[in-house]
Amino acid sequence: MWLPTLSFVALVTASAQAALPLPPFLTKCTTREPAALNACATENARRAVAAIAATGVRKYGVAPFDPAFIEKLRVEENGFFLEFSNMTISTLPRGSWHIESVDLNLEQRYIHFIYSTPTLVLKSNYRLEGRILVLSLRGSGDCEVRYDNYNVSNKVQFDVVKNDQDGLEYVKLQNPQLDANVTKSTYKFNNLFQGQDTLNKAAHDIANQNWKEIYEDTKESTLEAFGQFVTSVLQSFFNSVPYKDVFPQ
Ligand SMILES: *[C@@H]1O[C@H](CO)[C@@H](O)[C@H](O)[C@H]1NC(C)=O
Ligand SMILES: *[C@@H]1O[C@H](CO)[C@@H](O)[C@H](O)[C@H]1NC(C)=O
Ligand SMILES: *[C@@H]1O[C@H](CO)[C@@H](O)[C@H](O)[C@H]1NC(C)=O
Repeated sequence: MWLPTLSFVALVTASAQAALPLPPFLTKCTTREPAALNACATENARRAVAAIAATGVRKYGVAPFDPAFIEKLRVEENGFFLEFSNMTISTLPRGSWHIESVDLNLEQRYIHFIYSTPTLVLKSNYRLEGRILVLSLRGSGDCEVRYDNYNVSNKVQFDVVKNDQDGLEYVKLQNPQLDANVTKSTYKFNNLFQGQDTLNKAAHDIANQNWKEIYEDTKESTLEAFGQFVTSVLQSFFNSVPYKDVFPQ
C-alpha cells in the first residue's frame, strides 16, 4: 500500500453563531419509527443536495460541495511524494450526486449515507515524485482523475454535546468511515517527466491498464480526504441548528 499518510486543508470556515432554525429546504422528521425516519432523512438529504450542492448556504457556514474545492492535499511515504493543490471535485453531469439511502440511528448515534454519481472528476495541480507499479515518476503540472460509477458508503458516528454559551445541545460528528466502488478510473497527469512524450505515454498506458490496482492502492487516502471534506460540510450545518430542531425527540 502506498500513500497512507495525508494532511488536508479544506476551505471551509466553521461558523460560530447563534442557533438557527432548520433551513426552508428541510422538513423536520417527526417519527422515530426506523423505516419512516430513514425515508424522511433520505428525502431531506436529497432536497439538501438539490438546493445547495452548487452554492453552499452561507448563513449556515456550509461550503459548496459540487464542485468541492480542496486547497491542498499531500500524501507522503518512504520516498513517495504527491501533492495536489487547488483541487476541484465535481460530478458529471453537473449536479448528479444521487442519495441512494440514509440510515439514521438515534440510539446508536450514527448516520449512514449511500450516494453515487455516474462520473466523478477530480481536477488539480500536482507535484509528484516516486514509484508507482514499475514506474519511477516525477513531474508537476495539472492533472485529471475520473471515476466512473462512483458509489460511496459513508457512515459517521455522532455525539450530542451541550454548548455552554446557549445551553443547547448540538451534534458533533466523529469517526467517518468511507468505502467507495467504481467501475473504472482514468488518470491523466500532464507534464510528467518534464514533457518527455514517449515516457509520458508509456506511464499513462501502464497506469490506465492497471487502473484497478491504482484505485485500490490510493483509495484509503483519497477517501480519508474526501470523508474529512464531507464531514466538515455536515458539521457546519450541525453547528448551526440545535439537536432538538434537527431530530425527532
Ligand atoms: C491556487 O490558486 C490560487 C488562486 O487562483 C493561486 O494564487 C495559487 O498560485 C494556486 N496554487 C497552485 C499551487 O497552483
Ligand atoms: C451502490 O451500492 C449499493 C450497495 O452499497 C447498491 O445498493 C446500489 O445499487 C449501488 N448504486 C449504484 C448506482 O451502483
Ligand atoms: C463495494 O463492493 C464491495 C464488494 O463487492 C461491497 O461489499 C461493498 O458494499 C461495496 N461498497 C459500496 C459503497 O458500494
